[in-house]
Amino acid sequence: MQSDAHARFTSRRRSLRLLTPLLLAGPAMFSPRVASGQQPLLVPTPSQTEGPFYPKTLPADRDADLTQVAGRPVKALGTVLYFSGRVLARDGRILPGTIVELWQCDNYGRYHHAGDDGVPRDDNFQGYGVATTDAEGRYAFKTIRPVPYTGRPPHMHIRLRHANAPPLTTQLYIAGDVVGADGVLMASPRGTLAKLTMALAPAPGREAGALAGSYEFVLP
Ligand SMILES: [Fe+2]
Repeated sequence: MQSDAHARFTSRRRSLRLLTPLLLAGPAMFSPRVASGQQPLLVPTPSQTEGPFYPKTLPADRDADLTQVAGRPVKALGTVLYFSGRVLARDGRILPGTIVELWQCDNYGRYHHAGDDGVPRDDNFQGYGVATTDAEGRYAFKTIRPVPYTGRPPHMHIRLRHANAPPLTTQLYIAGDVVGADGVLMASPRGTLAKLTMALAPAPGREAGALAGSYEFVLP
């Protein structure tokens, strides 16, 4: 006949055997979304400060090609960058109709903004553009590879809005750039830079020297 202590030990081992597969599978197993048969939620793209240089007045030409200003025969200075990707919701749905705004400084490090009136500046750079995601949730811009300016590493500012998701404002950085003590990143949670870094590569079938980079945003 088993002692009470042995019976309790055997019962505990049986319970642990039943629980082990769940423990090894990680916390996602316990997500109520998974238990009900849905996909685990995606991690949203980290937000970053809007910064002081969102245009006070939007330019007349605000299309998705920032390298060419309507009515100006000369193209923007800088390395051409084809910047594209998708926008998703946290549940993995693609989000057609998302308004994606992009603004960044010109090749001299100047914004098209009343608060940044230094010279030289490149008036052939549009500085701001808007794209709307297509039926597959895709956006595409033609711009220039971002350059550094005083106190900041190269970065692009992006704001995304969709009717059925919270908005997102953030900044993207370029893989391989030297990012020193940056105030914006230092004020961000640890690991933010890695999540907001985009790799660039030569753009196939485009003009000589052009680069391409892709980034997938997940709205909060
Ligand atoms: Fe900036």
